[in-house]
Amino acid sequence: MKGLADKVAIITGGATMIGAAVAKAFVEAGAKAVMADINEEGGRAAAQDIGAGSLFLKTDVTSDEDLKACVDFAVEKFGRLDFIVNAAATYEDEGMSSTREQFLNALNVNVAGGFMLVQFAREHLKKNKGAVVNFGSISAKVAQPGRCLYPMSKGAIHQLTRNEALLLSEDGIRVNTVSPGWTWSSIISGIVGGDRALVDKAAAPFHMPGRIGNPEEVADAVLFLCSDQASFITGADLPVDGGYTALGPEQQTDALAALAN
Ligand SMILES: NC(=O)c1ccc[n+]([C@@H]2O[C@H](COP(=O)([O-])OP(=O)(O)OC[C@H]3O[C@@H](n4cnc5c(N)ncnc54)[C@H](O)[C@@H]3O)[C@@H](O)[C@H]2O)c1
Repeated sequence: MKGLADKVAIITGGATMIGAAVAKAFVEAGAKAVMADINEEGGRAAAQDIGAGSLFLKTDVTSDEDLKACVDFAVEKFGRLDFIVNAAATYEDEGMSSTREQFLNALNVNVAGGFMLVQFAREHLKKNKGAVVNFGSISAKVAQPGRCLYPMSKGAIHQLTRNEALLLSEDGIRVNTVSPGWTWSSIISGIVGGDRALVDKAAAPFHMPGRIGNPEEVADAVLFLCSDQASFITGADLPVDGGYTALGPEQQTDALAALAN
C-alpha cells in the first residue's frame, strides 16, 4: 500500500493481539509504531516481538497528561506523527445493572480517550495530511444479549467518526471507522481457553466464511484506511466482519426449507 513507508502511527490498545497486529503491519509496511496501553507487561512484550520500528509507552487513555506525553514521545522518538489508531477499549458492562460510574467509564475509555488523543495529535496530523482510524464494532449495530455499555460506546464511535471527519477535513485529515466481527483476540482466546476451533464453530452460523476473523485481517483494513489508496475515503465505516452485518436473523439457515421438510 502506498503512503505508509517512513510514516509514524500511534496505536492505543497496542498490547492486545489486534493492536499488536496493527503495529506489526505498520512496521512491515516500512512505518514506525508507538504502542500505547495501560497493560505495561503485555505492551512491552508485544513491542519486543515486533522489534525495531516499534516502541511501547504505558498510556492511560483516560489521562490527558498521558495522551499528550504519548504524542510527544512519538514525535521525539520517530520525528513525526501521521496516524492515530484508537483500539483501546473496556468491555466492562453489566447490562441494565450497570452503574452510572461504569456507564461513564465506558464512554471515557472507549470514546473520549480517542477523541482527546486526536485533539493532541491534530497539529502533527495536519502537517502530514494524516489519518485516524477509530475502532467501531459489529456490536454498535445490533442488540447483543447481556450487553449495554460496550455496544452503546461503540455506537458513539461511529457518530464521532463522522463528525471528526467533517471537522478535520479542513486540515486534510481523514477519519474512518473499522468494524471487526468476532476476531481471534486475547479476550476471545481467554473465554475458550485458546481453543480456536471451538470458537470458529460457534461463530460459523453468523460469519459467512464459517469462522472468526484474524487480527491480521483487521490490521490490513486499518492500513488500507491510512494508505494513499484510501485518499478519498473519510467519515466511512469499513466492516471486517465476514458478512455478520449483512446477514439477517435467518443467518445461514434456510428456515423456509426447514419448514417444508
Ligand atoms: N475481539 C473482537 O472480537 C472485537 C470485535 C469487534 C471490535 N473489537 C475492537 O477491537 C479493539 C481491541 O479489542 P480486543 O478484543 O483485542 O480487546 P482487549 O480487551 O484484548 O484489548 C483492549 C486493550 O485496551 C487496553 N485498555 C483498556 N483500558 C485502557 C486505558 N484506560 N488506557 C489504555 N489502554 C486501555 C487494555 O489493556 C487492552 O490491552 C477494541 O476497540 C474492540 O472494541 C474487537
